[in-house]
Amino acid sequence: MFLSFDLQLEFDHVFIHVELDFGIVAETKLFNTYIMPVVQKLYDACKVSFSTQGPISEEALGKVSAILDEMKPSNVGLEQEAQLARQWKGSVHGDNDRKGRNRGHQHPSPIKYLHLHECDRFSIGIFCMPPSSIIPLHNHPGMTVLTKLLYGSVSVRSYDWLDLPELSDSTQGPLGLKDARTARPAKLVRDCEMTAPCGTTVLYPTSGGNVHSFKALTPCALFDVLSPPYCSEDERNCSYFRLIPRRDLQGTAEVCWLEEIQLPENFVVRSGAYKGPTIRH
Ligand SMILES: [Fe+2]
Repeated sequence: MFLSFDLQLEFDHVFIHVELDFGIVAETKLFNTYIMPVVQKLYDACKVSFSTQGPISEEALGKVSAILDEMKPSNVGLEQEAQLARQWKGSVHGDNDRKGRNRGHQHPSPIKYLHLHECDRFSIGIFCMPPSSIIPLHNHPGMTVLTKLLYGSVSVRSYDWLDLPELSDSTQGPLGLKDARTARPAKLVRDCEMTAPCGTTVLYPTSGGNVHSFKALTPCALFDVLSPPYCSEDERNCSYFRLIPRRDLQGTAEVCWLEEIQLPENFVVRSGAYKGPTIRH
């Protein structure tokens, strides 16, 4: 006859405690009966690796990055979407919405953001992008960002701000404007295409391409970890930019001007449901 039965499910083991009415206590710990979800490992690593100022060290950031390297669509409930992306027959470089059965399609599906977690130290989320959709040029002020392409192909362009001393007192902007306050010179860091599976990319507050844009070449999903997250109280707002032609800036072809703009009207992100494993806090 049982007096009590206790079962505790932990991340890497099950603990069973049985007490019988004639005083016998049986306890056992069964390991490896529960495999910790990759997304849980990632969250746990983020918790010890990020402060409110960002990564506590390059080593800690590397640990988070290594876990993200292993992340697959099936780890976050996106296996079906990844399968559809693999079967997608559109043109990688064309606008699929203007072709074939999608001709005349006035409202292509929006980009979806799946929210996984946000605290004052980091945020985790996934952007699911339909083909040809664009996340316009935007920045991550004071932030470190890890991005892992889960499935599909995407075109990436990124820039870092340039501090050119000879321009600091200049009143001449790239368009011959007297006031160049809204435009700043930047250096092209990355202009490439990525196809999953591929490694995690990392950008830093002042290097690695802090200002970036994405264009989905196929259906694709970007897993983002931001530390610290956007926060208007701490002046970490997301700004949007457009590339403007330069006339007078000395330098190489990789130097350009970026002008801050309002949030582009055609940039619509809807929230979607995260269907992966629940993250235990
Ligand atoms: Fe971004």
